[in-house]
Amino acid sequence: MSKPQIGLIGLGTMGAALAMNIAEKGFPIAVWNRTGSVTQAFHAQAGALAQRIVPAATLSDLVAAMQGPRAIILMVPAGQAVDDQLAALAPLLRPEDLVIDAGNANFHDTNRRARGGLPFRFMGIGVSGGEDGARHGPSIMAGGTAGDWAQVAPVLQAIAARAEDGTPCAAHLGPDGAGHFVKAVHNGIEYADMQMIAETYGVLRDGLGLEAPAIAKTFAGWNRGLLRSYLVEISAEVAGASDPVTGGPLLDMIVDAAGQKGTGRWTAIEAQDLGAPIPVIEAAVMARNVSARRAERAAGEALYGPAPQPLSAGLTLEDLENALIAGKILCYAQGFAMMTAAGQQFGWALDRPAIARVWRAGCIIRSAMLNDMASALAEEPGRNLMLKPFFADLLRDTMPALRRVVAAGALHGLALPALGAGLAWFDMMRTARGTANMIQGQRDFFGLHGFERLDGLDRPHGPWAQDHNEKT
Ligand code: 6PG
Repeated sequence: MSKPQIGLIGLGTMGAALAMNIAEKGFPIAVWNRTGSVTQAFHAQAGALAQRIVPAATLSDLVAAMQGPRAIILMVPAGQAVDDQLAALAPLLRPEDLVIDAGNANFHDTNRRARGGLPFRFMGIGVSGGEDGARHGPSIMAGGTAGDWAQVAPVLQAIAARAEDGTPCAAHLGPDGAGHFVKAVHNGIEYADMQMIAETYGVLRDGLGLEAPAIAKTFAGWNRGLLRSYLVEISAEVAGASDPVTGGPLLDMIVDAAGQKGTGRWTAIEAQDLGAPIPVIEAAVMARNVSARRAERAAGEALYGPAPQPLSAGLTLEDLENALIAGKILCYAQGFAMMTAAGQQFGWALDRPAIARVWRAGCIIRSAMLNDMASALAEEPGRNLMLKPFFADLLRDTMPALRRVVAAGALHGLALPALGAGLAWFDMMRTARGTANMIQGQRDFFGLHGFERLDGLDRPHGPWAQDHNEKT
């Protein structure tokens, strides 16, 4: 075997799966983990692939085991661990060597690392798909320079998932932290998709009184229609699983407090900085935070009584399916619009159809709808997804159901923050004359901030300005 040009540091679940995937696709790979026994154990269980894997005992062994131009993938926890690893590699690598951060880095960190002072080349890639994706085909969102991409594209495209048309779901999306930025938006959408499914589950359970097995069947049915997606598919499986301890539905035994590593939160923070409205994603982050406050929620229920009430009448399973379709389109419209805002802010030419295509397979948010999104985004680039004819037709068909579901939720104490945020955003986005004239009047009243008039006259203040001036 020739010396590997690919190396990988960090043999945790994701790193080990990725290394196996790379070896399986025929690329020799050198691997190293901080704990030597982990490296040895990984090599020992690699079976037939072990012959393509070179386990290194030290970091300098890893570098020495490789030939140039080297490309070393980092699969270590985001944050300080990446900076520490880069510092450790600095004395060992040559300027032409490339280090690839494939973790869930904050894209600002990737920008900093790619732009400043490392004595080797550096690129950040977003990798989605969990352990199974890493092992059998993830979706890969690459940042970095065109040259970085050209060097590693053959490997990344070989290990990536393939869309139904055979295209690998790995693409170069822009310089510096662009790949990690797109991964953050992916994760924001992941949070929102999951939250909207959870909200719909709540209506089925508390509003319609369905048991988990019936809910599983409902989701499985939806997964054969427009909602066909990984997250709806696994939701059906989660709802359908039995608890080996009680024999009842496992879902009923799982504590209702969601964990999070923070990538959804980063997306919400970034959207605020960009002035890009993503209320469905923000609602999903908020809902995870509220879910974690179990004791306070229990105190609230003890004081006010439980919120959810059975629905009296009028909501069908089809309404819920359509509400979820509408919510999903609105959420993606917001996510893609955020990318346009980021592209303008950071000078990135983010290719939104290419991003939709990369998400078609391998990643957590993969869904049938992404094909149509890719086609729609390609017409009149930059235009909001909700204004594209294909999705406008779908929204016309499904918005009445979303409105019925959100209204029924409000009347029956079924909290639907993400679906409700989608509805409010949609209504604002189709209102040419909104209500912010009142905000402008208020701002001018207390702060003389000025306003524009509809007739274009140059009278930027209201009559209150005179009182204000007299007082000051
Ligand atoms: C993916 C996921 C993954 C993420 C987990 C956990 O695309 O494979 O986004 O990267 O880390 O889903 O995220 P939370 O712990 O924040 O839910």
